[in-house]
Formats: sequence, structure tokens, C-alpha cells
Amino acid sequence: MLGCMKEIAARLALRSLAVSCLLAWACGARAQVASAAPDGKSLYAACVVCHQPNAGGSPDGIIPSLAGQRRDYLIAQLGAFGARERRAPGMDVVAAHTTFRDHDRMRTLAGYLAALPPNPDPVRGPAESVAAGASVYRGRCALCHGAQGHGGGRDVPVLACQHYPYLRRQLDVLPAVHGKLAPRTLGTATQTLSPEFKDALAAYIAHLCPEHP
Ligand code: HEC
Ligand code: HEC
Repeated sequence: MLGCMKEIAARLALRSLAVSCLLAWACGARAQVASAAPDGKSLYAACVVCHQPNAGGSPDGIIPSLAGQRRDYLIAQLGAFGARERRAPGMDVVAAHTTFRDHDRMRTLAGYLAALPPNPDPVRGPAESVAAGASVYRGRCALCHGAQGHGGGRDVPVLACQHYPYLRRQLDVLPAVHGKLAPRTLGTATQTLSPEFKDALAAYIAHLCPEHP
């Protein structure tokens, strides 16, 4: 702060007491701003290039939407990326940042993303296979993820309005995604689904997002 005051005072070539007081206030405020905890929007700036400004994911649906996702699920995922328990080519670079090891920052970032409106127009996948995916979803997934894909509890993620290409990838690694959380039978059941059936399931989930006029 003293450095800041000297710098400005020298530049202005002013020495009066009134000016010193003003400078002390201005530089104090400046120091305070610099040390204040960053808000969610500024923490999110590092993510915009891939997840897009509205956090709706990439237009081609390869990079997932984060907008409107459950806060606790997001906190858990950010922590997992930071600890290298969850790995992905795009995320590995950004997860090296200290934000991914700072619990307060992760909470702030997750709270910001959870409050954003979900992507109204995700990549929905093949409409013709939607019907085939419905029975599997209702029978095996709705219990936890909700009939409309809105998630459940504090940390069961929202699936509705997520992009088809990302969901389809996740379905290939579903037992690993669920870890110990889901019953083992679910893991085996989804592992044995044919690729065509996984296409149908992902399309059904992506179509749970209400169509906009
Ligand atoms: C270089 C591109 C890139 C950048 C930058 C990036 N991400 Fe990602 N992110 C990805 C990709 C790709 C995935 C999908 C990973 C997978 O397939 O498992 C992803 C997945 C995620 C997920 C998991 C979503 C889910 O539904 O499970 C979260 C959470 C996330 N990113 C948060 C962030 C945050 C927060 C930032 C900024 C601090 C960020 N990402 C920056 C590419 C990126
Ligand atoms: C017993 C509850 C339960 C059931 C049943 C269940 N899930 Fe999940 N699912 C979860 C939880 C909890 C997570 C978060 C896992 C984590 O923390 O990593 C999750 C995560 C996911 C994800 C990752 C979301 C993302 O954004 O990357 C997908 C996709 C998913 N589940 C799809 C399914 C599908 C499809 C079914 C039915 C075949 C299903 N789940 C059944 C509890 C369940």
C-alpha cells in the first residue's frame, strides 16, 4: 500500500495532507479489492473457452453443459479433477490450477454454475431411437436421476439438457462413473447394453429437455 501511495503521489507531484489521506483510502480500497475472494463469474473466466459463456457446453455437444447442474455434484467433480481421480484431456490442463484444490473457490464456482439456467437447446441425438431408450431409463435410472432427469438428493446429477455426444460417452464408462454409489447390478446391466441401446438411452435422456417454441 505504501508503494502504491508513493507511486501515485510521485506521479501527481502532490504532497498535501488532504491528498495523502485520499490516497490512503484509495490504495487501501485497492488493496482490499485485490485480496477479496474472487466471485463465481471471475473464476469461471478460465472455463469459457471450452464450456462457453453461458456454460451450456460446446455447440457440438462434445464438451458438457455445466449450467443448472447440482452444486454438490459439481463440487465433487471439481475435487475429483483436482485430485486427478477423474481425468479428461481438456480438463487435465485447467485442473492444475490452484482453484481445483481450494474448497472455498470450488464452492463459489459450483454455486455460480448451479444457479445458471440450463442449456435450452442441447444436441439431442437421433429422435428415432428415443422410444427404445424410455423403458430402460424409467426402469433403471429414474429412481435416482428422476423421471424428468432433474437429478435427486444433493449430489445425484441432472441429466436433462445435457448434450447427447457427452452422455453417450459417459454411458460407455457408466460403472466407473457410478463407482460405489449405484448398486453393482446396475453396473453389470448397463455394461451389457448393446451400442445401439446406449444410443437410444442417451437420446432419450437428451430429449428430456423441454423443446422451446
Ligand atoms: C480445454 C477445454 C476445457 C476447459 C478450459 C475446461 N473444461 Fe471442463 N471439461 C472439458 C471436457 C472435454 C469435459 C468432459 C470430460 C469427460 O469427458 O469426462 C469437461 C468436463 C467438466 C466437468 C464435468 C461435468 C459433468 O457433468 O460431470 C466439470 C464440472 C467441468 N468440466 C468444469 C470446468 C471448470 C469449472 C472449468 C474452468 C475452471 C473447466 N471445466 C475448463 C473441457 C474443458
Ligand atoms: C442408485 C442411484 C443411481 C442410479 C440407479 C443411477 N444413477 Fe447415474 N448417477 C448417480 C450418482 C450418485 C451419480 C454421481 C456419481 C459421482 O458422484 O461421480 C451419477 C452419475 C451419472 C452420470 C454422470 C453425469 C455427468 O454429468 O457426467 C450419468 C451419465 C448417469 N449417472 C447415468 C445413469 C443412467 C443412464 C442410469 C440408468 C441406467 C443411472 N445413471 C442410474 C446415481 C444413480
